[in-house]
Amino acid sequence: MALSKKPYKGTRDFFPVDKRIQDFMFKNMKHTAHLFGYESYDGPMLEEVELYKAKSGEELINEQIYSFTDRGNRFVAIRPEMTPTVARMVAGIHKEVAKPIRWFSIPNLYRYERPQKGRLREHWQFNCDIFGAPGREGEIEILQVAVTLMENYGADSSQFEILLNDRAIVDTVFTGMMKCDEETTYRLYKIVDKAKKVTEVALADMVTKLDLTSEAETIFYQYLKLSNFEDAINFISAHGDLSSSFHEFVLGINDLDLREYVKYDPTIVRGLDYYTGIVFEIFDKNPANRRAICGGGAYANLLKIFNEAPMPGVGFGLGDVTLRDFLETHKLLPNLETAENDIFVTFQDPACRGEALKLAQKLRKEGVKVITHLEPLKFKKVFTLAAKKGVKFVTLMGDRELEAASIQVKKVESKEQFDFALTDIKKISDLIK
Ligand code: HAM
Repeated sequence: MALSKKPYKGTRDFFPVDKRIQDFMFKNMKHTAHLFGYESYDGPMLEEVELYKAKSGEELINEQIYSFTDRGNRFVAIRPEMTPTVARMVAGIHKEVAKPIRWFSIPNLYRYERPQKGRLREHWQFNCDIFGAPGREGEIEILQVAVTLMENYGADSSQFEILLNDRAIVDTVFTGMMKCDEETTYRLYKIVDKAKKVTEVALADMVTKLDLTSEAETIFYQYLKLSNFEDAINFISAHGDLSSSFHEFVLGINDLDLREYVKYDPTIVRGLDYYTGIVFEIFDKNPANRRAICGGGAYANLLKIFNEAPMPGVGFGLGDVTLRDFLETHKLLPNLETAENDIFVTFQDPACRGEALKLAQKLRKEGVKVITHLEPLKFKKVFTLAAKKGVKFVTLMGDRELEAASIQVKKVESKEQFDFALTDIKKISDLIK
């Protein structure tokens, strides 16, 4: 039986055209991270499952993780996310380095999911995290990084929004105001996480099953109706000093002109268990593409699992699958159909091979991107092939040029012709660049 030519379900082959798009996306991620002084890091593809069990949450462990027992009887997983790895790495070195620690990475991650639009079993995820920032400054900066990245792709507030909540607010409502116990609070989180994906009747059904007091139920539905920062602050104002801290955060995002992007949304709680502060997701405003492009939040206690004192961390992960959908939807991708090269060195007479290849190598030394044809090419085929290779110039060389030690250079678009001596390397490269 012949083997399938398709990749494993939910994974992708990256042909050069796909890789060009990915390179374009990654280049901007690295550029944006560097604009804010984030340093690149990476970790292993495999981690012990225990690392995720500690804080990532039931869904990831029970349904999504790719795990196996290795030959040394260790229970390991292919990384489904990067945050536990970066927390482990920071836990190991944080005492020796100046704070805040600003790191970024673009790992390939695996999750056993039902493949569908925007969701695969493998994706690349741009991660930016900041550790040890004072007060709410890290949260504000991380939102600024995310917005700057999107703006660097050419996107604006008519195309995307950041829906944001704070787990401390949710905890205050569920435990402080509704007086729910730990188990009910946990189940309420899971219900809120689904609130927008189910009908009102289905939502009410899930809530009824929790057997809340009628007072708690009223508070819960009032909470779900909150639609802006001011209302959220007022709603919790009687409960501790959280409202003033959240107010400080809101002032911070106003100050940096992030407010046009960031919107309060009580249904954003995020599925990962380690978040303790803000939680947010970036959404495409186009209703046809309503998957989260990015998700993130603040976590104060991740370092505790490594027996280290708590340290505030906040970050986000932005996936390449959803980002590409977003950029395609809003026509923000440049045309990357063909590769970009400078010149296609061809020769028409077999005797010219040596001189043509030597010329190609000399041009490369000047920084020119050169493709060679490697065998004689008929003149009438030169321009058709040149278009496919995405070059701006071609060279032609036959017996006459060989004898005169010269070369014809033609502009692909206009067919304009330039004649050079084979030794005019600098002149040729100046014309091309
Ligand atoms: P997450 O929400 O699980 O967060 O993933 C972040 C983003 O990765 C999602 O918004 C989505 O764009 C993309 N993504 C996730 N799963 C898939 C999938 N199966 N297929 C395609 N894209 C996917 C985290 O992973 C957190 N660790 C992010 C974080 C970093 N929080 C703090 N720092």
